[in-house]
Amino acid sequence: MFLVRLLYCSTPSGIGDVAIEAILDKSRANNQLDNITGVLIYNGSYFLQCLEGSRSNVSRRFIAIANDSRHKDIEIIDLSPISERRFPQWTMQYVGKTDLDQSIVSSYTTGEFDPRRMIFPEGIVDMLWRLAQ
Ligand SMILES: Cc1cc2nc3c(=O)[nH]c(=O)nc-3n(C[C@H](O)[C@H](O)[C@H](O)COP(=O)(O)O)c2cc1C
Repeated sequence: MFLVRLLYCSTPSGIGDVAIEAILDKSRANNQLDNITGVLIYNGSYFLQCLEGSRSNVSRRFIAIANDSRHKDIEIIDLSPISERRFPQWTMQYVGKTDLDQSIVSSYTTGEFDPRRMIFPEGIVDMLWRLAQ
C-alpha cells in the first residue's frame, strides 16, 4: 500500500454553513471506512483540503470530490508519497472562517488567506497542521 497526501483548493459554489455540516458528516463517515485522514479549511471564498491515505483510496475519493457541484475551479496543489500521516487523528478536521487564525496564516502568505497564491506543499501542510490544533 502506498501512502499519499493530496492537497487541492477550490471555490465554493452556492453553499452555506448547513451544507458544510452535511459535507463534513458524509466525509467523516466515508473517510473512516476508507482510512483517509486530513483537514478541510473553508473561509467563505475558498476550500483548501488535505487528504491522506492509500493511493487508491485517495484517488477514488478525490475523483468523487472533484465531480461535486458544491465547489468549482479545483486546482491540485500537490500529490506526494508520504512515509507517515500529519493528521492521523482526524477523519476530517474542519477549520472554518471564525477559527482561521490570521496570525498563523500570515506567517505563510502575505495578506488574506488565499490558497491559490500558495505554492510550497510543505509550508501549506505546516500551516494546516497549526490551524488544525
Ligand atoms: C469541499 C469538499 C470536500 C469534501 N471532502 C470529502 C471527503 O473528505 N470525503 C468524502 O467522502 N467526501 C467528501 N466530499 C463529498 C464528496 O464530494 C462526495 O459527495 C462524497 O464523497 C460522495 O460519497 P458517497 O459515494 O458515499 O455518496 C467533499 C465535498 C466537498 C465539496
